[in-house]
Amino acid sequence: MPAITYEHIKTCKQSGARLGIVHTPHGSFETPIFMPVGTLATVKTMSPDDLVEMNAQIILSNTYHLWLRPGEDIIEEAGGLHKFMNWDRPILTDSGGFQVFSLSDLRNITEEGVHFRNHLSGEKLFLTPEKSMQIQNSLGPDIMMAFDECPPYPAEHKYMKDSVERTSRWAERCLEAHKRPGDQGLFGIIQGGEHPDLRRQSAEDLVSLDFPGYAIGGLSVGEPKDVMNRVLEETTPFMPDNKPRYLMGVGSADSLIDGAIRGVDMFDCVLPTRIARNGTLMTSSGRLVVRNAKFARDFRPLDENCNCKVCKNYSRAYLRHLIKSNETLGLILCSYHNLHFLITLMDKVRQAIREDRLLDFREQFFEAYGFNKP
Ligand code: GUN
Ligand code: ZN
Repeated sequence: MPAITYEHIKTCKQSGARLGIVHTPHGSFETPIFMPVGTLATVKTMSPDDLVEMNAQIILSNTYHLWLRPGEDIIEEAGGLHKFMNWDRPILTDSGGFQVFSLSDLRNITEEGVHFRNHLSGEKLFLTPEKSMQIQNSLGPDIMMAFDECPPYPAEHKYMKDSVERTSRWAERCLEAHKRPGDQGLFGIIQGGEHPDLRRQSAEDLVSLDFPGYAIGGLSVGEPKDVMNRVLEETTPFMPDNKPRYLMGVGSADSLIDGAIRGVDMFDCVLPTRIARNGTLMTSSGRLVVRNAKFARDFRPLDENCNCKVCKNYSRAYLRHLIKSNETLGLILCSYHNLHFLITLMDKVRQAIREDRLLDFREQFFEAYGFNKP
């Protein structure tokens, strides 16, 4: 049995959305799902107890960051990432590919790998497919990601074609270097930017290598929403029905629904926790900026329709005060609410798929959230 398997429950009769269960060595999670991001082996300001309480079923962490600090050897010595951070549900790690491109400067891409400087110390480093696999084998997540190149948007066809072909060769090297296929599943990452022929080529290359799951990378890099939706529609037809599909780095409420409608199973993003820390909250009637003066005497909950412990127990006025005073509790409560909001949103998405009404749900949600209709 492979480490990761996808159990398909049903497809929505109103859309391409899939209801499923992904099985991993640390238990199963229901899809479509949103995965909170714990870059440095912690979902910022949230304890694992908080995450269990809000029913986070899987979290994500980062190869690049943990390699630099504290070092994967220390995490391996601790017994792996699950033990190190006291989280015994599934974990997925990104490969470092994307972070090398987004965080470091002076990078130089060669066939062998990527030369770059440590964004903390300035030290010269070299990351390769083999090194990324070795680090992820040491960290021990349930799902590891192939080492890929995520070119900036927009990228010309010629550059993107070379990049996609290199990413396919790197994917092959990743499979070759992966030492724990029995208890860690390695996902391939489809690139190709906005070019339909390259998305197809990338998907076909990777599918021929037979990974236990596939991600769609290179989106949410500054392209308009309709481009993302078009690329999803042009890519998923080349992905297998019996493996999980993961859209990387996407976490706005509207994009989660639009991605699910197009057959995506997994999503992650720092967005909910990042915006929470500056006091921007996701609510059923749209985004709420709690710093705003108009909330100074607003003693209502953040979101009347939310049943999270923050909305049950604290007012907008109090949260505004905490955020404006840079109090740690403000970061904690706002992060908790935003993650709870997206996790609950995906519960509702799954229920709507079960009942074949995801397009109706989208319409109602977008109406209340203040988005235009499709
Ligand atoms: N996170 C968001 N987008 C990407 C991507 O294209 N590749 C990787 N490895 N991680 C990502
Ligand atoms: Zn709430």
